[in-house]
Amino acid sequence: MGSHLLGNAQKNVHRLQRFQAFEIQTSRLLGGWLPGIRRWEVKHEVGLHIWQGAENSRDLRTRLWELRVTNPDRGVSDIIIPAIKEFARAQHDYELLAGLYLVLKQDLLHAYREIAETTYDIYDYPTIPILKKIIAVTETQIEWAKRVLADLTDSGEKKRQTQRWIMYAQDVLASIGGVDGDEGEDTSAPVPPPAYSTLLPFVEAQRDERFKLQPALPPMPDMKSDGEWTAWQFMGYATEMQAAETLATCLWEVEGMEWEFYYDFARHCWDEVRHSQLGCRRLEQLGYHISDFPHSVSAYAWRQLYDPVIRYCALTYVIEAGSFKLKHQSYQHYLEQDDLESAQAIMFDIIDETMHVRWGAKWVPPLMKHYGYTETLDELVKRCREITAKYGTAAQKAAAERDLAPKNKANEKG
Ligand SMILES: [Fe+2]
Ligand SMILES: [Fe+2]
Repeated sequence: MGSHLLGNAQKNVHRLQRFQAFEIQTSRLLGGWLPGIRRWEVKHEVGLHIWQGAENSRDLRTRLWELRVTNPDRGVSDIIIPAIKEFARAQHDYELLAGLYLVLKQDLLHAYREIAETTYDIYDYPTIPILKKIIAVTETQIEWAKRVLADLTDSGEKKRQTQRWIMYAQDVLASIGGVDGDEGEDTSAPVPPPAYSTLLPFVEAQRDERFKLQPALPPMPDMKSDGEWTAWQFMGYATEMQAAETLATCLWEVEGMEWEFYYDFARHCWDEVRHSQLGCRRLEQLGYHISDFPHSVSAYAWRQLYDPVIRYCALTYVIEAGSFKLKHQSYQHYLEQDDLESAQAIMFDIIDETMHVRWGAKWVPPLMKHYGYTETLDELVKRCREITAKYGTAAQKAAAERDLAPKNKANEKG
């Protein structure tokens, strides 16, 4: 009896190890694909799911730590990551979503429910509420995906492609013994549809047909111009989708970092998606839609010219750190105008951005090491300022140039 119980406990531990890996690796893959997803509202929802996957992974790892698993990735990363790379080969966003939500997440949901119902309700009780929370989140995600996919696959051709991709996704999971690994490995390697090699990373960020893409955003108006300033500023927030997309590419492209790196990046990415939503919401309240304004994806494009170290350093040390001065001025301006809604939006954003700049300081040095950089942090930051001064938006350029100028004490950090 004792060894029987031990056997089951070990089996559950092994399953939880795989589940936490699937959760964080799915977030990474959704990140890789975020720029390639066309429809604006789908991007927003996927941004939330990227963060939820990281949270699910964290909760499972916390339980694994209690179960005395010091390295939850040992023995599972080598199985889960190659499988996720197979899912990455999708050629269309609707295929990618169908594989992840209708196959992988659906199978995970089934496995979560089974364990929550069958595990020892007293001995293993702490596992149950964790799984129940993840089950509720996953159910909502899958229901969302079903609705969106019914909409996105609006032709016979797209439906056929999706069906074929779903079968392939099922084969991929079968080849690793299903999500829980219980079925044992199948030695036959799944064969993707012909010419399905990965499209990642995306050189350009995709937008749907509502957007009028231009090389640059409209110039910054005078803050005193009230309505014009407010619309311009929140239009700018809406385009922070590009910051999310840049971070999302790092989630996918950076391989082999510790788990916490992906956890922090998932949150940072979701925060930027929220800033984009914040912009859209405020524009709606003011009577606009984001597609009423010229839109640009050039900030994503120039950052993609560089490796993830530069992308991330430019975003955190230069662009985010350099943005506080204008934001504080704008906050004061809204207070003076009695526009408390805009002021609140800016204040919450400043709070998020303060955390982002801290994450920059936390992760740029280990990333430099990971990528074999030999220059000092100061040298790298200076180089990123020069790059931003060359390619950034007018406000980013101005801030980068200000901070590049010989120190005159006028420089401010948020
Ligand atoms: Fe932001
Ligand atoms: Fe940020």
